[in-house]
Amino acid sequence: MFNVIHDILYMVINMDRMNELIELINKANYEYYALDRPTITDQEYDRYMQELIKIEEKHPDWIRDDSPTRRVGGEVIEEFKKIVHEKPMLSLSNVFNEEEIRLFDNRIKKEVIPNYVCELKIDGLSVSLLYKNGKLVRGATRGDGIAGEDITHNVKTIKTIPLVLPKPIDIEVRGEIYMSKKSFNKLNEIRKANGEELLANPRNAAAGSVRQLDSKIAASRNLACFIYHLPNPEEFGIKTHYESLQFMKDLGFDINPNIELLKDIDEVLKYIAKWTEKRNDLPYEIDGIVIKTNDFSQQAKLGFTSKYPKWATAYKFPALEVLTKLKDIKFTVGRTGQVTPNAVLEPVRLMGSVISRATLHNEDYVLTKHIKIGDIVAIRKAGDVIPEVVSVKKDRRTGDEQDFKMITECPICGSKLVKKDTSYYCVNDDCDKKKIENLIHFVSRDAMYIDGFGDRIIEDFYNMGYLNNIIDFYELYKYKEELMELEGFGSKSINNLLDSIENSKQNSLERLLFGLGIRYVGNKTAKILAKYYGNIDNLMQASYEELLDIKDIGEVIARSVVDYFTNNKQLIFSLKEHGINMSYLGKITVNDNFNKKTFVLTGTLSNITRNEAKEKIEELGGNVSGSVSKKTDVVIVGENPGSKYDDALKLGITIWNEEEFLSQL
Ligand code: IVH
Repeated sequence: MFNVIHDILYMVINMDRMNELIELINKANYEYYALDRPTITDQEYDRYMQELIKIEEKHPDWIRDDSPTRRVGGEVIEEFKKIVHEKPMLSLSNVFNEEEIRLFDNRIKKEVIPNYVCELKIDGLSVSLLYKNGKLVRGATRGDGIAGEDITHNVKTIKTIPLVLPKPIDIEVRGEIYMSKKSFNKLNEIRKANGEELLANPRNAAAGSVRQLDSKIAASRNLACFIYHLPNPEEFGIKTHYESLQFMKDLGFDINPNIELLKDIDEVLKYIAKWTEKRNDLPYEIDGIVIKTNDFSQQAKLGFTSKYPKWATAYKFPALEVLTKLKDIKFTVGRTGQVTPNAVLEPVRLMGSVISRATLHNEDYVLTKHIKIGDIVAIRKAGDVIPEVVSVKKDRRTGDEQDFKMITECPICGSKLVKKDTSYYCVNDDCDKKKIENLIHFVSRDAMYIDGFGDRIIEDFYNMGYLNNIIDFYELYKYKEELMELEGFGSKSINNLLDSIENSKQNSLERLLFGLGIRYVGNKTAKILAKYYGNIDNLMQASYEELLDIKDIGEVIARSVVDYFTNNKQLIFSLKEHGINMSYLGKITVNDNFNKKTFVLTGTLSNITRNEAKEKIEELGGNVSGSVSKKTDVVIVGENPGSKYDDALKLGITIWNEEEFLSQL
């Protein structure tokens, strides 16, 4: 009898202790991972864990679903199962500056009067978590938004994701799995010590961790997860996004503490300014700020595009450098024959796009920066467009890096390269790559703008022999029937292509001049020449000296133009024969209020886009510059102008508002 009572008492005490340990450890996990504020030492944590493991080993039938021992990993899967999301996991549109943020706000305000919720944009990977009856049953990656991969075994190891909710509800929540800067650095230190390859950045490290079949790896990586989206709020009677965050917080999810409910776009801009300043102090990486309208009924009214919700957007921080691995160096041949070394990178996100290539400019650039294959490099977007490698992290070398060696022969045609200044050139005019690049340039947006020709189609048509030089565009119609038979093309797409080609014949001269690919003649110079000479015959007769007299035309351009027309008379003649317009069609009117004057635009114009305004000013002989200086003649000020307006006031420069500008036009 006594023994039975003892056993029962022992069991009760033991079970109480088990429950107590679970509470203690789960609380410690939350404080450590979510709050970054540990309250117990690592030794204490380990002791509790060992004690709990012992009790559970003795009483496997007592093991609770939310026991922290369920997170240590160990489950190994054979392959990732595909899952289809109940509602697509959409991505966000991007905005990059105040003007675009205000445009976003203006579009919203056409439909509703919004409050905004601003959130940090956590740089990790998005995840969907599904709970049935309060239990975590599935974790899935975003995948292509429609279908993702089942990563439940790894998700269960993430200590800020509850395994069991306080209520037995069915719910899906979405958020971002990330790795803190501290965990990332620690992980790389260990990898370095073990002679393992280092990981490029916390985002890649987090993504790599959840894409492991063996959950022990994810368990060892100290991942965390912020939840920021409730796809079915109506099921819980929730009316606003901000409320939904509180609701999810009460269920035990980790909600980022820096989320704010703001009353208008000016407050949003202040929030952005604050976090642009403070982002480096955060223990995890962020790559922007997410702006969401708060009210769900307003969200419903605003709706979605096929890719993005219209009720939210992501402000991306300006060009920052990111680290990634330079896996190889490949050489590309451009339109002019210039051979450029390019870095093949481990894909990494930078300013809203995934970068896997970056320019290394030329041999000298690689050598003076001591870039080696296998290095961890910092990349940024030069002029915010072309990614370039800026520096090497020498302290992250492992000794396996390989030296760079410039090639001496064209990688496409094999002809010997010729060095001019710092660059090497393929001088073979029959080099396939040069010819293809010239064809691509001819149809491009600022040149003849022949819509429908992607790079791939041009390359295919070239390889099939339909396109060899630019004249061939205007002879393609002869092969219409044949082309319609090609795989991937129907009569409709070929008809569209031929129509675009036909339409391009009516382009104004500057498009053709730019499209010809005359060395040093960019679209701006092409316009100056077209306007000045009016037609191609006049231009072809222009002497070197005459060209030099034109403002903005220097020796290099003048020489290049004269050389080009000396060598390409036959080509121009042939284009003429095919009916291509050779005259400038823009207005040659000169307006003294614009001619030879420098303008600066600031703020949002409501009746005309910035590009249209720029084009109009240029058409009338004016110049548009990006910053205000003493040389500026007029500053055109739209709504919510930036600091350029203050600069104009300081320097006493003429200021026009939009109305005045339009009337001058
Ligand atoms: S909301 C429909 N909120 O950014 C709602 N996304 O560029 C879509 N992200 O795919 C997501 N922090 O992976 C949202 N606070 C946040 C976020 C966030 C990071 C990620 C997410 C999304 C991507 C879009």
